[in-house]
Amino acid sequence: MFHAQVLTLFPEFFVSPLSCSIPKRAIEADLVHVDCIQIRDFSTGKHHKVDDNPYGGGPGMVMKPEPLVATIREARRRDADTHVVMLTPAGVPFTQNKALEYVEKQHLTLLCGRYEGFDERICDYVDEQLSVGDYVLSGGEAAALCVLDAVIRLLPGVLGSPESAVLDSFSEEGILDWPHYTRPEEFEGKKVPSELLSGNHAEIERWRREQSRLRSQQRRDKL
Ligand code: ADE
Repeated sequence: MFHAQVLTLFPEFFVSPLSCSIPKRAIEADLVHVDCIQIRDFSTGKHHKVDDNPYGGGPGMVMKPEPLVATIREARRRDADTHVVMLTPAGVPFTQNKALEYVEKQHLTLLCGRYEGFDERICDYVDEQLSVGDYVLSGGEAAALCVLDAVIRLLPGVLGSPESAVLDSFSEEGILDWPHYTRPEEFEGKKVPSELLSGNHAEIERWRREQSRLRSQQRRDKL
């Protein structure tokens, strides 16, 4: 079973997304187990402070190293094999290949920050820094959910075989999926491409590959 741990100040953030659709089914089928660890539980002192002003001045607060490092140590204590990933816009890009890499590891810890960022010294206690895109979220929680969702749907037994087949055909990095159509054959004057109605599997395959190629070239400058 895949074991994910999420280190966060907002464990409630994960409740609803993990109780819907594919993640819900995967959890119920014991294909994945997700534990949230509350960072605040590892801050000492009366006020359980987890952030402080930045040295050098400037706006916003920075997450203090002591509670975060104590939380990371707790995650490693609970799961000695876990791969600890810090979510930050300054990290390496999250891709489908990264998701596949995490599936192989079987043990993943996602560290979510809030405020302006982490004290830089925390970086020495994690295995990797990861970004879900070149934009700034209010915290790492939404990013961690993207990672969890992308990983969970890749776990063996989570998707039915028809869905897995679709996945196989566009798991290559930077290659986009082809367009999909369902009934009706004509909607507000827009027709389903004739290739898809031909019943000729070789022609359908050729059309899909070409559409993937065109989209990837136009939208990602690939191929
Ligand atoms: N935290 C804030 N923004 C983020 C991003 N784009 N990726 C990962 N973590 C983040």
